[in-house]
Parts: sequence; structure tokens; C-alpha cells
Amino acid sequence: MIKVENLVKTFGPKRAVDGVSFSVERGEVLGFLGPNGAGKSTSMRMITGFIPPTEGKVFVGGYDMVENPIPAKRMIGYLPENAPAYTDMTVNGFLNFAAELRGLRGEDRKKAVNRVVEMCFLEGVIHQSVDTLSKGYRHRTCFAQSIIHDPDILVLDEPTDGLDPNQKHEVRNLIRRMGEKKAIIFSTHILEEVEAVCSRAIIIDRGKIVANGTPEELKQRSDYAGAVSVRVLGVPGETVRQRLGAIPLARKAAIVREAPEYVHARVYPQGNQRNGELARSIAEVSLKEGWKIEELHTEEGRLDEVFRAITLPDTVKENNR
Ligand SMILES: Nc1ncnc2c1ncn2[C@@H]1O[C@H](COP(=O)(O)OP(=O)(O)O)[C@@H](O)[C@H]1O
Ligand SMILES: [Mg+2]
Repeated sequence: MIKVENLVKTFGPKRAVDGVSFSVERGEVLGFLGPNGAGKSTSMRMITGFIPPTEGKVFVGGYDMVENPIPAKRMIGYLPENAPAYTDMTVNGFLNFAAELRGLRGEDRKKAVNRVVEMCFLEGVIHQSVDTLSKGYRHRTCFAQSIIHDPDILVLDEPTDGLDPNQKHEVRNLIRRMGEKKAIIFSTHILEEVEAVCSRAIIIDRGKIVANGTPEELKQRSDYAGAVSVRVLGVPGETVRQRLGAIPLARKAAIVREAPEYVHARVYPQGNQRNGELARSIAEVSLKEGWKIEELHTEEGRLDEVFRAITLPDTVKENNR
């Protein structure tokens, strides 16, 4: 549905997007991750035909976005960054206007507006003007605009930005549900969002793709993946560390926290075995030593850690070591 080949955008000497290639199929929700200024919005503007690429190609539903923009744009719904909308229109007026631009007339237009009003929970504000809306409602109004023509492809630039936790939850559910039948790209820097919604994630940094995989695959790249976290009561930390570090399956053991009443240790596996064997060995050792275990679990890996490891400048990484 979406195919991007070697996309480049330069602003003067700056390469804001620097050779990005990927594709998105129907039924996929692609998370577009990256720190501020990574090039997410610029990429989305090119994919939606809002600005032309300096180099490279964008195909939407098989149409070249530069050579054949009208049929390509018909297939896309776009929620730009910061959810722009005409502030002096009412919600109803704005959505009817958007529907009309998309070529919907008469009953079709009415039906389309009613459908998005319901989907985006806008019933209560339909006659209010956009500039009197709270940020959450304004955002959802713009979101409603992007899906008014029930497009096959959705490009959403930070769709949950500025929403409260309940609204974030609703919007994520909406994206996940729509993702079953559409191809969706959405950008975010909230990592839990990626786990909650995406079937695949791309991490972009300084204009380049630095990782591409399912959330699970990305988490496997975390140092924590397969490590076992254990809390032991009433034993000195150093004893725990040495005893667990000596387990043949363990690469090393580290103390995460030593409190008066407990020790929290993390044991890292040799290689990348993830089958729970390390946790069983730790349980056996604890039993033999007569330690009281309060908690024992194998970690899945952390997306935030992978994200930081990949996207922090090398100098910062050095200082954090
Ligand atoms: N119109 C523009 N003119 C000059 N520089 C721009 C323009 N748009 C974006 N940039 C720069 O391109 C880089 C990428 O920006 P952007 O795509 O908005 O990043 P993101 O959405 O990932 O935060 C930034 O350094 C930004 O300052
Ligand atoms: Mg942006």
C-alpha cells in the first residue's frame, strides 16, 4: 500500500531525511519512532504529497505520489503534526467541509460525518467552534477529518500528543481496530504506544532508519532481554551477587538495589538463551542456600533501553558508561 524508496529531503545544507526506504502492507500498523528532529514529520509530509522529496520515490497504492498525486492522495487520510483545523468553523461545519473536499455529497456526506463523530466521540461538541475546544477534542476533530472518506491508508503524525491518559487509550484502540483493514503509519516518541498498537516499528535517527522490526524483535536487542530479576530477603547483597554470578548459565550478576530488608539482583544469561533455564537455576540455588525469595522473573527486554542505546549521540553514550 505504501512504498518508499531512498527518500531524501534537504533543507539547505541539512539532510532532514537521508535515504529512507520501507513499505507498509494492508493490515499493518507501522510505528515511526525517533527523537525530536529525527525526520519523522518531514518523511510523513513527503509520503502524503504535502512536500516533494529532494530525491527518491513514494508510491501509494501503486501510484507515484509526484507523478500521479490525485489518485494517490485520494487513498490517504492524514493527521498532520499539531492537528491543524479551521478554528472559526464549528466541528460539524469543519467535518462537512472536509467531507465535501473528499467528494462526498448528500446522504453520503451525512453518513460519513455521523460515522466519524461517533468513532471519535465528538457528539457533545458538534455545534461548538473549533477554537473553543479543549486540546483533546480538537485533536479528535482533526483525527475525524483524516478518516472521513474511510481511506485505505492512514498517516498519523503523533496522534496521541496532548491527550490525557483516557483519550490516549481510546485513540490507541481506534488505531489498532482500524489497522486490521488499513495500512497505517503513525509517529510517536511514546514507546509503550508502540507495544500497544504496532505490528512493526521503525526507529529513525538523524534522517536514517536505524532499526526495523516487530516490537518483540526490537526488545530482544535489549541488554535486559532474558535477564532474570530476583529479590531475596535477609541475605547480604555481595553474597547474593557472588553466588548467582557463579551459576554456569550466568554471564554476570549485578545488584540493582540493596535495601535493609531485601536485595534486588539481576542475573544476565550467557549468550541469548531465553527459555527460563536461568530462572530455574536461580530458584535451585536459592532453595539450596535457604534464601527467602520474594520475586523472581525473566525480563522481556525493554524498548526504551533499545531506543536510547540506538539514538543517543555516541558522546553521551560514552559518558553514560
Ligand atoms: N521547512 C523546514 N526548513 C528547514 N528545516 C526544517 C524544515 N522542516 C524540518 N526541518 C528540520 O528537519 C529536521 C527534521 O524535522 P522533523 O521531520 O520535523 O523531525 P521530527 O518530526 O522527527 O521531530 C529538523 O532538524 C528540523 O529542524
Ligand atoms: Mg514531528
